[in-house]
Amino acid sequence: MPSYAFFHNKFVPLSEAKIGVMTHALHYGTGLFEGIRGNWNSEHQQIYIFRLKEHYERLFNGCRVLKIELPYTMDELCRITVELVEKCGFEEDIYIRPLAYKSSESLGVRLHDLESDFLVFAIPWGRYLDVDKARCVVSSWRRSDDNVTPPQAKITGNYVNNALAKTEAVENDFDEAIMLSPDGHVSEGSGENIFLVRDGKLVTPPIYNNILMGITRNTVIELARNEFGMETMERPIVRSELYTAQECFLTGTAAHITPIGEIDHRKIADGEIGEITKKLQQIYSDIIRGNNPKYLHWCTPAYKKSPVVERK
Ligand SMILES: Cc1ncc(COP(=O)(O)O)c(C=O)c1O
Repeated sequence: MPSYAFFHNKFVPLSEAKIGVMTHALHYGTGLFEGIRGNWNSEHQQIYIFRLKEHYERLFNGCRVLKIELPYTMDELCRITVELVEKCGFEEDIYIRPLAYKSSESLGVRLHDLESDFLVFAIPWGRYLDVDKARCVVSSWRRSDDNVTPPQAKITGNYVNNALAKTEAVENDFDEAIMLSPDGHVSEGSGENIFLVRDGKLVTPPIYNNILMGITRNTVIELARNEFGMETMERPIVRSELYTAQECFLTGTAAHITPIGEIDHRKIADGEIGEITKKLQQIYSDIIRGNNPKYLHWCTPAYKKSPVVERK
């Protein structure tokens, strides 16, 4: 099934969406991306786009950092994305990749005096971390500091930091890297936030430990509070706390909720998926597929022909 892109203000086949070799973002990493999931529900014959608006809110915030002026409003971006997904017509889980970037074909390191553009495309994409329990390693690469290249914004150039960590981990036969902040606190995975269960409570690193404020992270914090009456402590975590956690898991749009079985060759508890992690995985997987009416406000149905939309 062909994929499409919204590119240069119109929908085109993905294979026709090409940028020039002098495009500023290609040379200097002056772009911002998002990763959004569309989750296929075969019973409803529907793709539900999860927390669409929140992803574009984060993109707009990043645009302030990189001085990118988007030629679209938030509502327009949401509409374009839904139309794109509908046009693609996939009947499986998909990944939507918006990109706001410095589009001038002009060399010179800067953020000013450059034009900006926006594109978005969608592709089928199943599991990102293709394991039931991840084997992780603390990376030798530190997470970049907010005063170096702000991790708060999903700046394309920033992701060299994450790529160094991920490849080091995979080449050493691990599934994922856990990066520490410059001052040695636990920060996050190369594409996921991290949670521990300690003394029956959820703990996750705070914004000042150089994390991306993940939308899945926020979802988990809300679900733990609303569904299980569990508060999450956002506080600095030292490395050895990883080894002594009762449970540990990663969260991300691509990785969903992925349990961690082992870190630095040390099993987390008995190395199996913990009870709290399991409960969160179950409710999360129902919610993102539009199967939990209480959280339908987080799900945007993409297909008009769907029975769910026709019932409205
Ligand atoms: C570095 C990093 N941390 C965390 C996350 C998780 O964020 P979200 O849950 O919004 O996908 C991502 C993925 O977007 C990421 O790239």
